[in-house]
Amino acid sequence: MFKSVILSVAIALQANLQVAHGALLTDPTKIGNNYDFVVVGAGIGGSVVANRLSENPAWKVLLIEAGINNAGLEDISIPFFAPRDSPNEIWTWNYTTVPQTGLLGRTLTYQRGKILGGTSSINYMMFTRGSSDFWDNIANWTGDSSWGWKNIYNYFIKLETFTPPADGHDTTGQYDPSVHGTSGPLAVSLPGAANELSPFIFQTQQNEASHWPFILDANSGNQLGLGWLQATINGSTRASAATAYLAPQYISRPNLDVLIEQQVTKVLFNTNVKGAPQATGVTFASGPKAKVYTVKAKKEVILSGGSIGSTHLLLLSGIGDKNALKKVGVSSIFNNAEVGSNLIDHPCITNHWVANTTNSLDLLRENSTALADAIANYDATGKGRLVDTVSPAMGLFRFPDNSDFIQSNPGVKTASGPKAAEYEFLWIDGWGSFLPVPGPSGFYLTLSQVILSPSSRGTITLNSASPWVFPTIDTAFLTTEYDLDISRAAFKDARTFMSDKAWKGYNLGEAFDQSAFQTDAQIDSYLRNNTTPAYHMTSTNRIQSHKGGDGVVDNTLKVVGVSGLRVVDNSVFPFIIEGHPEATIYALAERASDYIKATWA
Ligand SMILES: Cc1cc2nc3c(=O)[nH]c(=O)nc-3n(C[C@H](O)[C@H](O)[C@H](O)COP(=O)(O)OP(=O)(O)OC[C@H]3O[C@@H](n4cnc5c(N)ncnc54)[C@H](O)[C@@H]3O)c2cc1C
Ligand SMILES: *[C@@H]1O[C@H](CO)[C@@H](O)[C@H](O)[C@H]1NC(C)=O
Ligand SMILES: *[C@@H]1O[C@H](CO)[C@@H](O)[C@H](O)[C@H]1NC(C)=O
Ligand SMILES: *[C@@H]1O[C@H](CO)[C@@H](O)[C@H](O)[C@H]1NC(C)=O
Ligand SMILES: *[C@@H]1O[C@H](CO)[C@@H](O)[C@H](O)[C@H]1NC(C)=O
Ligand SMILES: *[C@@H]1O[C@H](CO)[C@@H](O)[C@H](O)[C@H]1NC(C)=O
Ligand SMILES: *[C@@H]1O[C@H](CO)[C@@H](O)[C@H](O)[C@H]1NC(C)=O
Repeated sequence: MFKSVILSVAIALQANLQVAHGALLTDPTKIGNNYDFVVVGAGIGGSVVANRLSENPAWKVLLIEAGINNAGLEDISIPFFAPRDSPNEIWTWNYTTVPQTGLLGRTLTYQRGKILGGTSSINYMMFTRGSSDFWDNIANWTGDSSWGWKNIYNYFIKLETFTPPADGHDTTGQYDPSVHGTSGPLAVSLPGAANELSPFIFQTQQNEASHWPFILDANSGNQLGLGWLQATINGSTRASAATAYLAPQYISRPNLDVLIEQQVTKVLFNTNVKGAPQATGVTFASGPKAKVYTVKAKKEVILSGGSIGSTHLLLLSGIGDKNALKKVGVSSIFNNAEVGSNLIDHPCITNHWVANTTNSLDLLRENSTALADAIANYDATGKGRLVDTVSPAMGLFRFPDNSDFIQSNPGVKTASGPKAAEYEFLWIDGWGSFLPVPGPSGFYLTLSQVILSPSSRGTITLNSASPWVFPTIDTAFLTTEYDLDISRAAFKDARTFMSDKAWKGYNLGEAFDQSAFQTDAQIDSYLRNNTTPAYHMTSTNRIQSHKGGDGVVDNTLKVVGVSGLRVVDNSVFPFIIEGHPEATIYALAERASDYIKATWA
């Protein structure tokens, strides 16, 4: 994973890699004045919605993005370079959390993309739809059966084209073609280069199949088991919301304008209307000292700034806890203390072992000649190890009823249902870490563990009335006993996995950073010192329960208490996905687009 996998070798731009976009605007004076819809943020949610709404030639759509164009950037398009895409790049928001009480007071850097495609342009491309229970639980929560797996499945088929891996190998037995799409905008594929670890991973699975069962396709609604990783990669290049939904044939539509390098600073409301205040448009600017522009929306403003961006904008615009907003000088439009609460993210740890090899990805991290050779080979052939993201396989598991963890947490169920996983394993052929420390010299392998349905809840709150001051972010990791217990149980299971006989001769034992931690108390301090986010933050603007009360948006993603405003991004899910969120956000935005179309039909 991660920054430390590769050296920061400068790479010449390859003009042939990505077709330039059609009509992209950077000059605010060039935009129109009669938009039906203004969409804020060209990440996953916003790119899908802008694309689908502009299918109707009668509607004029403006998509505004704070970040830069993605076209022509090899660091973004080459899958292997995902770990070098954050933090602190020209295309990232450089958030940090408050000191984490559950993590020995450490502060965490928090990554988000500030570029066309949003975080899908800088993420690790792992594509997981979630279990059928995840979606059916949302249907139950909203009282809207159209959010259930059966209906959302149609959107997964619609949005996807399953594409052959870069090396063209026979994929029989590595996925189930019958549950995949063949004509959608977004490419999804299997690993496209041989990976040293795959034989060991799958041999361990076979040796202990009752402990870690095989799953042919974790995107079928049944996710439990260990299988080949699916990722948003088309042949040798990253597929993102920008390359898929803002591709030249869409962005060139005369009724779609995409304005980049402009940050939306506020949603404007008309309060002189009968009923709820009505969103009428937004203000935006390129920086704190730049000219502020206004653009109106005749039908709706749609916020797709992501869990941090959209929450920040709602608060800045007066939708949030009235008293808290007053303290920083923001006047209230609608009092709702739910905005920015219920924050959920996945705690993640990268565990390390010493590998008996001279050919892991550490070679490319340490040896600039080897990396230059790999790049030259990639540029010439579109093949080789740079075509893949960090893990060849993925395991999504639950603890059995007779396990120590379940026995010591009787009756506690945080996952969506019995088909939903509790923890995840990923493997890296080399040293990977989200910690801000450089990887050590030598050859390693990494097993990353992710806790999929934590019970801790964090917050986003306003720090200032200025849109240029970041909000206060508290991920609240490991603040419940349950989360510490399950992290410890997952760590012990990771040790069991890596000590299977399949690894004999390759795995030479635990690396220096973890081998000393043996007792439960020692393991807990290891967990608190090494947990980082998986960067899947969700639920800060969650959908209301049909039983009433809590929530920020209704089942059609309209913001409650006002009119003409929706939120379409990862912030609206009432629960966190047991997996990686990008697939679910593409589907959510497809579903939302149909709701918006139906509203204005
Ligand atoms: C390092 C890393 C690895 C990850 N790996 C994976 C993975 O392998 N698989 C997976 O499924 N998920 C992964 N994720 C998470 C996933 O990419 C995000 O959850 C997802 O992209 C969120 O989508 P979104 O539409 O909610 O927001 P985003 O994709 O973040 O898009 C929001 C957009 O809005 C823009 N914006 C925000 N505020 C404003 C404003 N005021 N004005 C104008 N524009 C604004 C932002 O610049 C951005 O472009 C990863 C994340 C990170 C950081
Ligand atoms: C993030 O850090 C990079 C590198 O310092 C910088 O270029 C970029 O402008 C920063 N982004 C924001 C939103 O501050
Ligand atoms: C949803 O509700 C139905 C009816 O109460 C129930 O049978 C089902 O188990 C629930 N599904 C989930 C995933 O919670
Ligand atoms: C994948 O890339 C090929 C070659 O550039 C292109 O023709 C095809 O349309 C792409 N597929 C998807 C689903 O983007
Ligand atoms: C670095 O990689 C090159 C090319 O693969 C190889 O010839 C060389 O021996 C390597 N150097 C070291 C110090 O391992
Ligand atoms: C390392 O691998 C080599 C080649 O497979 C093998 O001969 C050797 O015994 C291994 N070393 C250890 C310590 O297991
Ligand atoms: C935490 O980890 C860092 C390395 O990332 C190490 O230097 C430090 O000693 C560790 N602290 C504790 C309390 O384990």
